[in-house]
Amino acid sequence: MSGHGAPIPMTARKSGPLRGTAEVPGDKSISHRALILGALAVGETKITGLLEGQDVLDTAKAMRAFGAEVISHGPGSWSVHGVGVGGFAEPSQVIDCGNSGTGVRLIMGAMATTPITATFTGDASLNKRPMGRVTDPLALFGARAYGRSGGRLPMTVVGAAEPVPVRYVTPVPSAQVKSAILLAGLNAPGQTVVIEKEPTRDHSERMLLGFGAQLTVEEMAEGRVITLTGQPELRPQTVAVPRDPSSAAFPVCAALMVEGSEVFVPGVSQNLTRNGLYLTLVDMGADIAFENPREEGGEPVADLRVRFGPLKGIEVPEDRAASMIDEYPVLAALAATAEGKTIMRGVKELRVKESDRIDAMARGLEACGVRVEEEEDLLIVHGMGADGVPGGATVQSHLDHRIAMSFLCLGLAAQQPITVDDGSPIATSFPVFEGLMQNLGAEIARG
Ligand code: S3P
Repeated sequence: MSGHGAPIPMTARKSGPLRGTAEVPGDKSISHRALILGALAVGETKITGLLEGQDVLDTAKAMRAFGAEVISHGPGSWSVHGVGVGGFAEPSQVIDCGNSGTGVRLIMGAMATTPITATFTGDASLNKRPMGRVTDPLALFGARAYGRSGGRLPMTVVGAAEPVPVRYVTPVPSAQVKSAILLAGLNAPGQTVVIEKEPTRDHSERMLLGFGAQLTVEEMAEGRVITLTGQPELRPQTVAVPRDPSSAAFPVCAALMVEGSEVFVPGVSQNLTRNGLYLTLVDMGADIAFENPREEGGEPVADLRVRFGPLKGIEVPEDRAASMIDEYPVLAALAATAEGKTIMRGVKELRVKESDRIDAMARGLEACGVRVEEEEDLLIVHGMGADGVPGGATVQSHLDHRIAMSFLCLGLAAQQPITVDDGSPIATSFPVFEGLMQNLGAEIARG
């Protein structure tokens, strides 16, 4: 829906203490992968807890277009009858991935080594994002891609008829690029090797193993070396999707911004490739108890009890960037309510997300009266203390769900209300955000 319907302005006002339990929906990364791997397995994969955000629904629709049977059985409960590795049919329609970079890049990888042709498009945000980072390695398998200038969508990918395996060092820390190559490697003979210098989220590796692929991960001097043996028969799985730590970040950070709050957020991933924000919050002095550590859906999780308290700005360790890449927008909002400056280095990947997130946060924070400094690879936010952010502005969400939610969280603590021009993209990843936050006591309303 994002970018296709009318904009939905939303306003957040200074709120009383947030209290209660925030049960956030399923993980977006794992939900995409469950549908795609389910479509590549032979037989019926059952999924519970699937995120029913628009990004994932677009991937479900795409998997149907490639020949899989994808059925919804009620909230979060889905089944996928897969066609097997190499079994994708040629879609008869253009594949519209909406707002989802993960959707389009992973699906391009999954079809690139099958002799079919598919054309991909997306919304105004996705059609601006670079696809060369995926189509370059896919070309090494023998696939060809024809897109707009700068490697942008709409784009047609012609899958390789006789794919060859690939050895590739990812030039940017990107789980989407890594995953596209691994999915392409599934239908290439021999061993496909991806080397990443910095570890990125490892859901593809974990789930490929779960579906029965042969895959090894070695920590070597050159980086994390992932070796996949091609042409396995993937076995259908029962996938219980854990909650999304990137969505949990919003009620957690809101509780840390609004005086007197105490919020319980169950089942937050402690996967080392995803938990950078939570380490950073602790470094800032946040009062967070990590209770009942356990495994859920194959991921280490804990229940978080979060209490408001004064925070100090810090320099976020640069090597943490990949493990919290989606959380910088809400961290930047939170940093505005801390004492002192928060320095975020090594963050240039934020410029090629659903929006240029450095620019979107910097401009929005400035409009709210917060001083920021920005360079290509750097964002510094000068904190104004718990009660110090003036607010009183309308900020642009740039078709970016996380920008919209970050400013709505900040509006709960700012002196004057903050309006986002368009909250409709929130439906891509966190369709129940508004009601969930209102239940905690957040004053968020449309208009
Ligand atoms: C994702 C990878 C990240 C992240 C995105 C989800 C994934 O993107 O920002 O929201 O599921 O693989 P990059 O791979 O571009 O860093």
